[in-house]
Amino acid sequence: MKELLNKQIYFIGGKGGVGKSTSAAAISMLCAKQGFKTLLVSTDPAHNVGDIFHTKIGGKQKKLTDNLYAMEIDPEQETKKYIQSVKENLKGMIKSSLVDEVHRQIDTAATTPGADEAAMFNAISSILLEEKDNFDKIVFDTAPTGHTIRLLTLPELMGVWIDGMVKKRKKINTNYSNLLNDGEPVEDPIYDTLQKRKEKFAAVRKLLLDQETTGFMFVLIPERLPILETEQAVKLLAKHDLYVDTLIINKVLPNEADGSFLQRRREIEKEYLQVMEKTFKKQILIHIPLFEEDISSLQALEDFSEHVGEAVLKKA
Ligand SMILES: Nc1ncnc2c1ncn2[C@@H]1O[C@H](COP(=O)(O)OP(=O)(O)OP(=O)(O)O)[C@@H](O)[C@H]1O
Ligand SMILES: [Mg+2]
Repeated sequence: MKELLNKQIYFIGGKGGVGKSTSAAAISMLCAKQGFKTLLVSTDPAHNVGDIFHTKIGGKQKKLTDNLYAMEIDPEQETKKYIQSVKENLKGMIKSSLVDEVHRQIDTAATTPGADEAAMFNAISSILLEEKDNFDKIVFDTAPTGHTIRLLTLPELMGVWIDGMVKKRKKINTNYSNLLNDGEPVEDPIYDTLQKRKEKFAAVRKLLLDQETTGFMFVLIPERLPILETEQAVKLLAKHDLYVDTLIINKVLPNEADGSFLQRRREIEKEYLQVMEKTFKKQILIHIPLFEEDISSLQALEDFSEHVGEAVLKKA
């Protein structure tokens, strides 16, 4: 299958309730069935991948079927872990009389806006770097659009921020070694920690930018607002050199749906589908029908996943 399944990493984004989690689960299932060892990662704080598979998942990888593993990143837990690691990193670097005060400040920082996102991004980064050699495919189910975009553009922002910190630190060290007047570079664990962080984010950014490795998919439904929002999201990500290559147009009225009410809806929908063809020329558009019922059983998920497979095959 061209485009869809030849990449290793997929991020599934889109507006609230359009079918991101269902699509991410279906795509993971499809990959696993094709023999690829697949990891499905939920990064949405309101996890429902577990509900979709009718099982408890949690923060550790859980094997669901042959080749299919899933995990849910818990932002609160990640923030705690992240803060703990920051404290660990500082151990031995600061005077013991300052420890309490510094820890207080770090704890306050953990409650500021953006801390959860930084922790979540750190967790995604670790999964990408640690698991990319263990899995053939890694699929991320993300939270609604705005959140995802902020998250995906974080490595760029964090890169710039850390660069600034590294430079500042270097200057302090140079001044310090000049002051000591022996010209020897000073050992600085904070500088080393920052440098490591910088390398980690740079590695992740490289992965995200590599179009052969990473694909960004958006799910939307054929209505005016989701189209507008997706158009904006696609543009915004492109500004950060991230290209959405596939759109899953979900809940398209199936041909067999009849009645005059549905007929009228179908006409409107047809116009929106045409608008989408025009608006999203660079993307592969995959149509998935509206099912009679929500996708709440594994059988329904398999059916959904078959639809995705067929639609992709058609486009390949
Ligand atoms: N093609 C479809 N036909 C019928 N029901 C569907 C279809 N796709 C998704 N659903 C149902 O729509 C609801 C929303 O789907 P899902 O949870 O996958 O969306 P989401 O984008 O992940 O939502 P959120 O933004 O809340 O995470 C679910 O009840 C799901 O079973
Ligand atoms: Mg979801």
